Amino acid sequence: MLRNITLYAEADYAAMSRKAAGIFAETVKENPTAAYGFATGSTPEGMYEELVRLYGLGADFTGITTFNLDEYHPIKPDDPQSYYYYMKKRVFDPLGIRKFNLPDGTAPDPSAECIAYEHKLANAGEMAMQILGIGNNGHIGFNEPSDTFACQAGYVPLAADTISANSRFFEDPGMVPRNALTMGLHAIMMAKRILLLASGEGKAQILAQALTGPITPQVPASILQLHPCVTVVADKSAASLLK
Ligand code: F6R
Repeated sequence: MLRNITLYAEADYAAMSRKAAGIFAETVKENPTAAYGFATGSTPEGMYEELVRLYGLGADFTGITTFNLDEYHPIKPDDPQSYYYYMKKRVFDPLGIRKFNLPDGTAPDPSAECIAYEHKLANAGEMAMQILGIGNNGHIGFNEPSDTFACQAGYVPLAADTISANSRFFEDPGMVPRNALTMGLHAIMMAKRILLLASGEGKAQILAQALTGPITPQVPASILQLHPCVTVVADKSAASLLK
């Protein structure tokens, strides 16, 4: 492993979630009013549940400002498939977080929305921590494999692989949105610390490729090898191909 990457290979998903939540809660304790980057997807669900438990025990998350990585487009915030809905229900309401931001899935001009989102993010100051999952194809946020690294926030078509992976959340796979708004790699890389979560043997190959393979836009997460402070919290299955 590289020196800038700290790896925790936990016994299972529950242990991974507890570890990640502990790291996040500790960071918030040290930086209670900073900006933080949040991810959706199935991987951080357990971590969010654990944060709610810690909140019940007295941990305070109410002073932070949050920025989510991405949102489908077009999608309304009250659509149960929207990331807005996911975050409000699982994270913001239960943790009492009021200063939250997501790209607007209803924006009439999605490219302009990306520029505005990036400005909002820049004005919020340095993110103390960016939580990330990793796509089966190595994407972070919805920065999909490409010939070049996508620096800026963008209105992007989802890769076929991502549409297929995310169809598990939809009753009708044909309803998976084809486009999304995503934070770019520059904003992700500017976070002071990255907390990358990965679970299950299906993520083992791509995690190893991202963290120890060549740095290439074909595996967008491989850019994290250039970040000075990355903490990877994985379960044993996802970490199985990492030395
Ligand atoms: C979600 C996001 C995505 C997911 C990735 C993994 O906001 O930005 O990059 O982190 O697709 O998703 P799961 O956790 O469902 O395997």
